[in-house]
Amino acid sequence: MTTIDSPTAVGSGNAATDKFKGARFTADTSPERLSAIATEALAGLSALIHRHAVTYPEYRVLKQWLIEVGEGGEWPLLLDVFVEHDIEEVNSTRFRGTKGSIEGPYYVPGAPELPAQCTLPMRDEDRAHTALVLRGRVTDLDGAGLGGAIIELWHADDEGYYSQFAPHLPEWNLRGTIVTDSEGRYEITTIQPAPYQIPTDGPTGQFIEGAGWHPWRPAHLHLRVTSPGKQPIITQLYFAGGDWIDDDVATATKPELLLDPRLDDTGRKVVSYDFALDPEAD
Ligand code: BEZ
Ligand code: FE
Repeated sequence: MTTIDSPTAVGSGNAATDKFKGARFTADTSPERLSAIATEALAGLSALIHRHAVTYPEYRVLKQWLIEVGEGGEWPLLLDVFVEHDIEEVNSTRFRGTKGSIEGPYYVPGAPELPAQCTLPMRDEDRAHTALVLRGRVTDLDGAGLGGAIIELWHADDEGYYSQFAPHLPEWNLRGTIVTDSEGRYEITTIQPAPYQIPTDGPTGQFIEGAGWHPWRPAHLHLRVTSPGKQPIITQLYFAGGDWIDDDVATATKPELLLDPRLDDTGRKVVSYDFALDPEAD
């Protein structure tokens, strides 16, 4: 396990790589399918090399940069910023329930279990920021409440740091596993997240800066919603009118995932959102 002692790209990158490597993934890909995908990928690369007449210095810089992406543990970051949104899109076309969005590199299973009405674990300094109350129901496609459904919620703090990927934060800060009540209802109090800048001090950040792009994601909440016999949803909720909504570096916003909270008379932001889960595939 990599020990991180400062919230840097290399720290969060290595932590994300270690967590990903902890699981062993397989895919049922035939040699024919692998060959077809690899052939097209290489043909695309070949075409762009010819079109842009890529030079030897550029090729060597690319090789060096790819090595640095691996050494900095940034493959999860790089792939989740630039590739995951397309994978999510092609794999969600058959679903009729709540829209999904990318998972990103910072999901951690096993966050503390909390009742349907709860406050996420947070530090005193987090409590000083604007409270956000997210409430609603988890239902099936016909609107029937799903009691005992599980909502895993995780998000960055006001400075853009995720617990377990920045060493100064308590282990489960702003993470929770919430169980809906018998009618599928939940009400979670947390804090309003801020727009999030992906780490800029590593190779992914250097590439983004070198290309003259920006590293920002709009403020967001990550959620994974599950119930027995239903298709799990991995998604994100965003804030209508917020910065970077229309220009997310990870291309992961969708109009159906925008929240528009109102201020209550105690200064909290309050908003409702219902999750509808598709039945599990046969
Ligand atoms: C995120 O936290 O949402 C995220 C971070 C890096 C890449 C993709 C998503
Ligand atoms: Fe995020």
